[in-house]
Amino acid sequence: MSKLGAGIAITGIGSAAPKAILSNDHLSQMVETSDEWISTRTGMKNRHIASSTESLSQISARAAQQALSMAGITAADLDLIILATSTPDDLFGSACQVQSLIGATKAVAFDLTAACSGFIFALITASQFIRTGVHQNVLVIGADILSHWVDWSDRNTCVLFGDGAGAIVCQGIEQGDRLLAFEMYSDGSQNNRLNLPYIGESKPLVEDIEASVGTYRPIVMNGREVYRFAVAKVPEVIEKAMFRANITSEQIDWLLLHQANRRIIDAVAQRLKIPREKVLSNIAEYGNTSAASIPLALDEAVRQGRVQPGDIIAASGFGAGLTWGSAIFKWG
Ligand code: ACO
Repeated sequence: MSKLGAGIAITGIGSAAPKAILSNDHLSQMVETSDEWISTRTGMKNRHIASSTESLSQISARAAQQALSMAGITAADLDLIILATSTPDDLFGSACQVQSLIGATKAVAFDLTAACSGFIFALITASQFIRTGVHQNVLVIGADILSHWVDWSDRNTCVLFGDGAGAIVCQGIEQGDRLLAFEMYSDGSQNNRLNLPYIGESKPLVEDIEASVGTYRPIVMNGREVYRFAVAKVPEVIEKAMFRANITSEQIDWLLLHQANRRIIDAVAQRLKIPREKVLSNIAEYGNTSAASIPLALDEAVRQGRVQPGDIIAASGFGAGLTWGSAIFKWG
């Protein structure tokens, strides 16, 4: 157990995505769309799609193993696993299955649902357990397989989403704290902007008592409204976190946003006066992978050697709920 008031460091990262790649040209064979429309409106070219034999738990475990190996610890050293996902293999949660797949016998594992803000919310949750000295080694995973829940005949949504997983290892440290600041928000009054709702049918059980039996229905989104919300709230939440961290945007080495739309990313960077070369984005290759998008892009940048130890990263997630949040941290 770490000491009360210890700081937090992110010491390892990993990611995994399904093998199959669905391109814009593939999509234009399925619905009335084009590579030109999708690329100019979203910045997306490809997305990875999970087959019936690739589960969320499996890709999460792959990402987790890479993160553990970079951190130089084993699964048996983990105290806590938080899996941010909206698309578990099992509605009761998938974190325990990941725990079993990687052999984290000492850890406690649970799921956290906050859609595309899930990874940021999970990182912040993990930091609370570390700062209070309750846990030392925490695995945070952001993973989603939204392709399970897309209406593949709806061009408004089916072009946007892809599947993937990203994981980080957070550890307690005696000196300093690499999580410089964070902010989290939600606004349930705008809940109907983006949903994956349960729809049930009445099933009479006995006289006067009926149950509702059904399943979840494909994603429905008011794209324009979510776009407007993101462009207004994301710069604000990052500015608030920068204020708390007592830093200016010139001190930010990398802007790392949830990869929902390249135009949203560009608009936020412009508003914060962060130049394009400091923006991390792999939306062209993966599309919107929901809770996975931030660690997936960070993992790529770390492994390419773009992000270096000590770099300051301003990350922000936003999405269904509506939820949004930001975390400013030093890598490594
Ligand atoms: N191909 C061709 N035309 C299309 C397509 C498509 N794939 N999709 C929509 N269109 C059409 C529409 O029907 C519309 O036609 P109309 O004018 O004749 O009605 C036209 O294109 C323009 O539609 P808009 O919705 O205004 O397009 P917009 O420029 O807003 O782009 C988009 C749509 C990409 C969805 C954008 O609004 C967006 O990215 N919104 C934010 C999404 C987001 O950030 N989600 C985040 C969270 S996800 C989560 O939490 C799970």
